[in-house]
Amino acid sequence: MNNSTILIVDDEPGVRHSFNMVLKEDYRLFFAENGAAALDVFKQKHVDLVLLDILLPDQDGLVLLKELKESEPETEIIMVSALKEISSAVRAMKLGAFDYITKPFEVDELLSVVKRALERKKLQKEIVYLREELERVQPFEAMVGHSAQMKAVFNLISRVAQAQGPGAILVQGESGTGKELVARAIHNRSQRSDQPFVVTNCAAIPATLMESELFGYSKGAFTGALENRSGKLEMADEGTLFLDDIDLLDINMQARLLRVLQEKEYEKVGSDRVVNVDIKFIAASNKDLRQLVTKGKFREDLFYRLNVFPIELPPLRERKEDIPELLDYFLSQNRKSNGLPSKSFTEKAVQALMDYDWPGNVRELENFVERLFIVSQGTVIRQEDVLPLQRRNTRRENQTLKKAVADFERQHIKAVLHSVDGRRGEAAKILGIHRNTLTAKINDLEIVV
Ligand SMILES: Nc1ncnc2c1ncn2[C@@H]1O[C@H](COP(=O)(O)OP(=O)(O)OP(=O)(O)O)[C@@H](O)[C@H]1O
Ligand SMILES: [Mg+2]
Repeated sequence: MNNSTILIVDDEPGVRHSFNMVLKEDYRLFFAENGAAALDVFKQKHVDLVLLDILLPDQDGLVLLKELKESEPETEIIMVSALKEISSAVRAMKLGAFDYITKPFEVDELLSVVKRALERKKLQKEIVYLREELERVQPFEAMVGHSAQMKAVFNLISRVAQAQGPGAILVQGESGTGKELVARAIHNRSQRSDQPFVVTNCAAIPATLMESELFGYSKGAFTGALENRSGKLEMADEGTLFLDDIDLLDINMQARLLRVLQEKEYEKVGSDRVVNVDIKFIAASNKDLRQLVTKGKFREDLFYRLNVFPIELPPLRERKEDIPELLDYFLSQNRKSNGLPSKSFTEKAVQALMDYDWPGNVRELENFVERLFIVSQGTVIRQEDVLPLQRRNTRRENQTLKKAVADFERQHIKAVLHSVDGRRGEAAKILGIHRNTLTAKINDLEIVV
């Protein structure tokens, strides 16, 4: 006996009886002799499968089928009919029935179709579960991180993506923190997800070309404008326009963009025709835009237009607990794209990587793992494999003065000691310090003589 439940709906007691005989050993059964009774059971009990007579005394079986499917789409329904009537069979399948059987039924045939229907139900339940699980593990496509800061960012992404209004989104954060990824996640979760996501990089496009890039131009607008050309605004209509490195947008273009944000209209270069657009704007910057406004380098009115929904991405060094997860994620990405066996980090290696501050944030970590994946021997990545990174971390520009001085002292004392074959009295004289001071330094600086 498995736990699946079947509701049998048929007005003929004889038919209910024969279903009972065949199925009672293996399933839990409920019975109803008409549509109203069927709905009652359906509301009160969990039903996996319904065997539904197409000719009911009080209702058209197909209407009931539709009703049941609407209230509980996961429940499977097998239609039962006295005649093999192709047209109603087809309609039943279209309305979502799993299959169609005729009375009198063959026992084996009934058992097999019931089994298949319940298997599909189970599979679908598993798919729903796996999807939910995937959402839980990886709430946003390709974005990992369980730190409180990233959870807050994920929450914001969901809320902002649902917002219907015209409000723009401003994503700020250091280089490599995932600003573009966030912009894509917002678009993919919004109602515009089947419309284009268009990227304009204000850093990559010279100010003189930015106008054509955004607005497009009409034929003859300037020498070389041989035909009409759409701009990014036109391409992004009904979708999302991602304005990357917005801080670098030329001040004239800032005014032009402001108008598009306010009026939702623009004209192509060389054209008087007003074009209306419906665009969700997402801007990104690795500078503090508010500060640029104070310095007069960014228009205040544009800043407020863009900053309706601000999202701040924390630098990686402020959420180091995300590092192990990011390491695993990028390892598996590399394994997939290289087709090599999987690799893993030793605990000490992970610790070393967590000690590093990652000034280039997630992008630096991603590139680092990619290189390590290729150069490291075997399937385990050890601390010594990640040492070059630690060395980079202690380059002079990152050191405190105290440490730089200690390094210099150590090397200099070593060299002097070496030159006098380790005679401390001689060395102290050369260095201009007392012999006891030299001994203390040798101990403090852990100089091996
Ligand atoms: N939370 C994350 N999970 C997984 N990958 C991430 C995450 N954040 C960033 N990345 C990856 O790091 C890289 C840099 O991300 P992205 O390009 O979005 O950063 P950015 O903030 O736009 O950087 P820049 O300011 O330099 O343009 C990308 O390859 C991205 O896929
Ligand atoms: Mg970017």
